[in-house]
Amino acid sequence: MEELYLKEIELKDEKDVVDYINEFVRNGSVINGLSGATSCKTFLELYEKLQKQKNLKFASYNQEDRPPSLTYMLKRKSDERLVGTYNLRLNLTKALDDNFAGHIGYGIRPSERRKGYATQGLKLVLDICRKKNMKFVRLGCYSENIGSKKTIIKNGGMLIDHKDSLMSEDYYEIEL
Ligand SMILES: CC(C)(COP(=O)(O)OP(=O)(O)OC[C@H]1O[C@@H](n2cnc3c(N)ncnc32)[C@H](O)[C@@H]1OP(=O)(O)O)[C@@H](O)C(=O)NCCC(=O)NCCS
Repeated sequence: MEELYLKEIELKDEKDVVDYINEFVRNGSVINGLSGATSCKTFLELYEKLQKQKNLKFASYNQEDRPPSLTYMLKRKSDERLVGTYNLRLNLTKALDDNFAGHIGYGIRPSERRKGYATQGLKLVLDICRKKNMKFVRLGCYSENIGSKKTIIKNGGMLIDHKDSLMSEDYYEIEL
């Protein structure tokens, strides 16, 4: 199994991050775990957005605003390749629960899928959550997204809710 590690995005990571985003665009794949990747016009704008997200305030479960969140790159140790991104919301709000968005969003670049990386990366994020004294995390995924569903279940996810709609969604909780 390849060794992977998590690291926050720095200004010097511009080339890797732009290359990563372009691969999703070329493959027509949605980018999860890197909010702002499609709305920001430059890497600097994206970087500044991620810094702002870290400094957001959490006041209460019922607040409309997003809670603070951290974005991590999942990197492969052997060649330092950026293989995925994870966004960890440090607090849960009613809006995140209602949308089955939960604490963590993630994605693996198309060329690096089906290698166990999403599963390994989620495990590393859960280790961070434990260090932050979080007691549980919630994650949602479309019911038909087998890869994401398995990633969550392999990390201890238990189904807690389900929405039946055109795109059915499942909501999971992992005890830490
Ligand atoms: C979903 C996603 C994160 C999975 O990443 P990955 O690195 O390929 O996942 P893993 O290799 O850790 O696979 C986990 C399990 O799911 C299975 N799996 C992965 N992709 C699959 C697919 N497309 N179809 C069926 N099974 C799949 C793997 O075989 C593995 O199961 P196994 O251990 O029983 O063999 C990736 O496909 C992706 O980034 N998709 C787009 C964004 C997304 O959907 N993010 C999740 C939002 S909730």
